[in-house]
Amino acid sequence: MLECVLVMDFGGQYCHLIARRIRELGVYSEIIPPAADLGDYGDRYEIKGFILSGGPQSVYEKDSQRLREEFMKHIRDENIPVLGICYGHQVIAFYEGGEIESGGMKEYGVTDMVVDKSVSILKGLSRKEKVWMSHSDTVTGMPPGYEILAHTRNSPVVAFRHRKKQIYGVQFHPEVVHTEKGVQVFRNYLFNICKCKGNWEMGDFIEESIEKINTAIGEKKAVIALSGGVDSSTAAVLAHRAIGKQLTSVFIDTGLMRKNEPESIQKTFTEDFHLNFRFVDAKERFFKVLEGVSDPEEKRKIIGETFIKVFEDVAREVGADYLIQGTIYPDRIESGLKDAATIKTHHNVGGLPEVLGIEIVEPLQDLYKDEVREVARKLGLPEEISERHPFPGPGLAIRVIGEVTRESVAIVKEADAIVKEEIKSAGLEKGLWQFFAVLLSIKTVGVQGDVRTYRNTVALRIVESVDGMTANFAEIPYVVLERISTRITNEIPEVNRVVYDLTHKPPGTIEWE
Ligand code: XMP
Repeated sequence: MLECVLVMDFGGQYCHLIARRIRELGVYSEIIPPAADLGDYGDRYEIKGFILSGGPQSVYEKDSQRLREEFMKHIRDENIPVLGICYGHQVIAFYEGGEIESGGMKEYGVTDMVVDKSVSILKGLSRKEKVWMSHSDTVTGMPPGYEILAHTRNSPVVAFRHRKKQIYGVQFHPEVVHTEKGVQVFRNYLFNICKCKGNWEMGDFIEESIEKINTAIGEKKAVIALSGGVDSSTAAVLAHRAIGKQLTSVFIDTGLMRKNEPESIQKTFTEDFHLNFRFVDAKERFFKVLEGVSDPEEKRKIIGETFIKVFEDVAREVGADYLIQGTIYPDRIESGLKDAATIKTHHNVGGLPEVLGIEIVEPLQDLYKDEVREVARKLGLPEEISERHPFPGPGLAIRVIGEVTRESVAIVKEADAIVKEEIKSAGLEKGLWQFFAVLLSIKTVGVQGDVRTYRNTVALRIVESVDGMTANFAEIPYVVLERISTRITNEIPEVNRVVYDLTHKPPGTIEWE
């Protein structure tokens, strides 16, 4: 059975990072809600460790007490090594009979920690270490049977362990990069304490996933809406490996994709991967429903609904019993981690399953984005797909300010292609989150070839970001910006002006609509 370390999510802002760090060390990890039935997980995995995450609440709150009691009882019965982090650290101390001071000495940010004993969880750490703190409650007295391993100026108990049992707590956040020896703390816990082997690999994932899809779908038929993005492409190729031609991969050409993208996607999946590929040319339909619409939300709604209608027709025609979706782990964390126990779920991410009334299979539901990219590489998907930058569902429609017409989309498509080419040839692609053009709804006066012109303006949006939640406009060398600007005004006759967007997110969003 696959080794797994469970992370109980008490609502801490860094909780998802804990599972990431563990997986980075080659041990599979899942985040579970406090109300999870732990028996379910025991049936699926060899549970090697339990981590209690941080959280915003205080141990003195009533609700946290109920959860805490249930959880601690289970841990003690199973004798699985437990590590409490921040709030989790306080939970253990409190439940075991220690003292917690509420709202006393708060600590936020990088803090100096003094290691009193560099053993077990703190093995290999120096006497003084920098750690990341974010807490207002503090453990002030040790429960019986426990010993202190570290302290700071304001917190007498920053790390502890039980003298006999395998129970540990740290007030700091080892999962945050500012904790310099955070990875060492996880190594100690995973390999010395939990005795994990550390053999979780994406290759295993592929084999297991193919088997699971096979078991779930059997001889029946499935469909997938394949957009050419890394998630749906990876899900489609995995499912194809499992059930072959029983899967129909539907690509809907909305007319709102980037230059040459529909053709290139079709070629990849038919010629290289031999998928049962259905190319649906819906350009007319999308341009028709978008006529006269300029409100951004209205555009998004119309595109979403039209997409579902077009897809629904194909799915019915195919007679599919299952819908494969490329939902990934962060999508599920955002929607509350329901149905964590099986790869077949009924929850609804894109609105499709409800309309179709069929079951969903989500082969990537436990993976992070970089893990999906690794699977994509292992499956042999081209770099164009495995390393693809984010692209919004409504496509170029939300990069045309004002009405979306064939003409306006054609302009932004050309400009986008130039941005992409120049950023790529300058070798800047990998360090950027996104880079694209936006067609504005204003015209300005210019002079081209000694003639006065009155033409469109294109804005360049080039940003750096880690997760898309916040972003900075990128400091692109002027020479690259100049090349982009010159090419756009030379090669696209409808454009006489190019501007660079100097707005971070917040206050701006990455997309303009
Ligand atoms: P914003 O514009 O909100 O975007 O700062 C954050 C990230 O999300 C992408 N984005 C979308 N992705 N469907 C998607 O799949 C959408 O409707 C959508 N809208 C924005 C955006 O490109 C950026 O990476």
